[in-house]
Amino acid sequence: MERTLVLLKPDAVQRGLVGQIIARLEGRGLKIAAMRLMEMDEALAHRHYEAHVGKGFFPGLVSFITSGPLVAMVLEGKDTVAVVRATMGDTNAAKAAPGTIRGDFAIDIGRNLIHGSDSVESAQREIAIFFKDGDIVSYRRDTDPWIVEG
Ligand code: RTP
Ligand code: MG
Repeated sequence: MERTLVLLKPDAVQRGLVGQIIARLEGRGLKIAAMRLMEMDEALAHRHYEAHVGKGFFPGLVSFITSGPLVAMVLEGKDTVAVVRATMGDTNAAKAAPGTIRGDFAIDIGRNLIHGSDSVESAQREIAIFFKDGDIVSYRRDTDPWIVEG
C-alpha cells in the first residue's frame, strides 16, 4: 500500500471545511494512518516547499501556510498519491474540475485548501518532515477487501 502526505491548509480550517474534505478522501476508501492539527513555522514551510524557494509566489505561499493552524495527515491505500491528486483537482482552483475538492470549494491558486504529495518520493520526504515513525499507525479495516481487490 502507498502512503501520501495531505495538508488541509489554513483556509480549510478557517472556512470550516476540514470535515467535508476528510469525508471525500475517506469516501474514496483511503485510510487515515496519522493526523494532527498544528501550525507551520517559517523553517518548516521552507523545508516542506523547498522546491519552490526563490519563486515569485514563494513569499505569499509561506505567509499563507504559516497564517494559522492546518491539519496534517498521512493517507494510505492503493495508488494513494495519484488518487489524492486527482481528488484535489488542478493547483489553480479556478481551473479545477467540478467534483474535485478544489473545483467545488475554491477559486484561487493561492487559497486552494489542500496539499497532496506529487510523487511517491516526495511523499516519503514530506511524511518524514511532519511525522515520526511512531506517529503512523498500521491497522486493518474489515472494509479493506470491499475497497481493494486481492
Ligand atoms: P501543493 O504543493 O500545495 O499541494 O500544490 P500543488 O502541488 O498543486 O502545486 P505546487 O506547484 O506544488 O505549488 C505549491 C503551492 O504554491 C502556490 N502556487 N502559486 N501563483 C502561482 O503561480 C503559484 N503557483 C503555485 C499554490 O498555492 C500551490 O498550491
Ligand atoms: Mg506541490
